Amino acid sequence: MSELIEVTVPLGGGRDYPVLVGDGALESLPDLVPDHARRVAVVTQSGIGIDVEPGVEHRVFTIGDGEPAKTTATVADLCSEFARWGLTRSDCVVGVGGGLVTDVAGFAAAVYHRGIPVVHCATTLLGQIDAAIGGKTGVNLPEGKNLVGAYWQPRGVICDTATLASLPPREWRCGLGELAKYHWLGGGRLDELDLPERVAACVAIKADVVASDEREGGRRALLNYGHTLAHSLETVGHHDLRHGEAVAIGLVFAAELARDLGRIDDAAVAEHRRVVSGYDLPVEVPAGLDTDELVAVMGRDKKVLGEGLTFVLDGPTGVEVVPGVDASAVRATLARFRGESGPEGRAET
Ligand code: GLY
Repeated sequence: MSELIEVTVPLGGGRDYPVLVGDGALESLPDLVPDHARRVAVVTQSGIGIDVEPGVEHRVFTIGDGEPAKTTATVADLCSEFARWGLTRSDCVVGVGGGLVTDVAGFAAAVYHRGIPVVHCATTLLGQIDAAIGGKTGVNLPEGKNLVGAYWQPRGVICDTATLASLPPREWRCGLGELAKYHWLGGGRLDELDLPERVAACVAIKADVVASDEREGGRRALLNYGHTLAHSLETVGHHDLRHGEAVAIGLVFAAELARDLGRIDDAAVAEHRRVVSGYDLPVEVPAGLDTDELVAVMGRDKKVLGEGLTFVLDGPTGVEVVPGVDASAVRATLARFRGESGPEGRAET
């Protein structure tokens, strides 16, 4: 095991927790399981294929793949299986997998016996730099994604960067899209760091944001940089783009919009393109999606505050939440971004 990087999520009130990053970090799992736990329920998916050793008696509970498995029924089944096995309130759940697994395992831990400890072992890039950190847990309803959930902070998180070596290329790209956004959230030249340092740098940014706004009353929304167009691209495009690919396009679009609103200059937009393309991620909206529909879906985004559209945009003092952006301005920028001509299109500079 190489030397691990430890980042603390400084929640205060005795709830601080460590995130251990590096090759071989999974070996430290027993250190994060509470001393009082006699049993550990390991929640994972069959395709993950990573055996963990929590240091006490444990049993593996497997959930299904993909969004259809992210349901209240899956959580109810898990809780029934925990109860049949005899898991008690002083025991512990360990989630091993990507964001879907840690969201589901975390939510099961949050509601079983009204809340038992959970440790996350994130095995995807997206999970390591985002989903497993910060305590958001939940499942989908037929009416929408992540509509049922809880804030339930883990006792610790393991980001074993050696597990990323076997990620399928598209899963890797999905993580890179989220990684790219951290360049504008204080990450600077993340591309100059090695993988464990890069993951740890993203974790440190997220830890700081979460500690300052655990329940997303304000600053935590910055983590949604690039996500307003991204969610619309995913919805209108029926998820042909993976989330991180959509975020990559959303970041460049957000830069174009910020420039059109007079918040940043052409050089800042070029920097967005350089970073996103540097990760070999897409920077253009795919053909075949309707501009008006994309704008309409952006207007329904659950993060919208009051009139107009809400974006996270770069500006003179950095990235911030900007409510009340006029839909016609968004449409004009999007049309020009897509190379569509129109009277409202901004002249190329
Ligand atoms: N993934 C965004 C957040 O945790 O707030």
